[in-house]
Amino acid sequence: MSGTGTNLQALLDACADDAYGARVVAVGADRSGTFAIERAGLAGVPTFVLEVKQYGQRADWDAALTQVVADYTPDLIVLAGFMKLVGPVFMARFGGRIMNTHPALSPSFPGMHGPRDALAYGVKVTGCTLFFVDQGIDTGPIVAQAAVPVLETDDENSLHDRIKAVERRLLVDTVGALARDGWTVIGRKVTIP
Ligand code: GAR
Repeated sequence: MSGTGTNLQALLDACADDAYGARVVAVGADRSGTFAIERAGLAGVPTFVLEVKQYGQRADWDAALTQVVADYTPDLIVLAGFMKLVGPVFMARFGGRIMNTHPALSPSFPGMHGPRDALAYGVKVTGCTLFFVDQGIDTGPIVAQAAVPVLETDDENSLHDRIKAVERRLLVDTVGALARDGWTVIGRKVTIP
């Protein structure tokens, strides 16, 4: 987590119901002082913060993050507003079960500014994409997508806010389905049975 953690909050709320089928075992951030970590603490979920600057080299951060996460033995890792690329050690350990959320319809507008880039391009429809992380930037196999219309009156914030409302619902529905039913990935095609 790097941001305010509204996606995290939606997951924490969903997990309060046993029938949901998933549980958040821990929440980590790459920055201290995020509201996301506070939200996790309030929900009684263990937290950790590993900042790149605490480590001599990025490779050391990668190794440390991998170890901390491994100790929680997660079935699925959700990057929700995590604005750093995970490293090669993390990918080697957890590849295929790291899901990220991006506020645009991939493969359009990858990177840090999905809503801004969609507005600047003038698209009439954008949305959000859940995908399994690969080596690229927002390029991995797509798990789920949802569309959001762009309004004449939109600015970056209003558009991102409407995307986030749809994104939270999609994330909750998809994480629940993955946890309850499992998934397969063949090439780029992700199937939830
Ligand atoms: C979400 O819209 C997520 O898709 C985006 O950051 C927001 C975090 O919101 N992530 C990226 O842009 C990654 N490239 P939140 O902190 O309220 O969950």
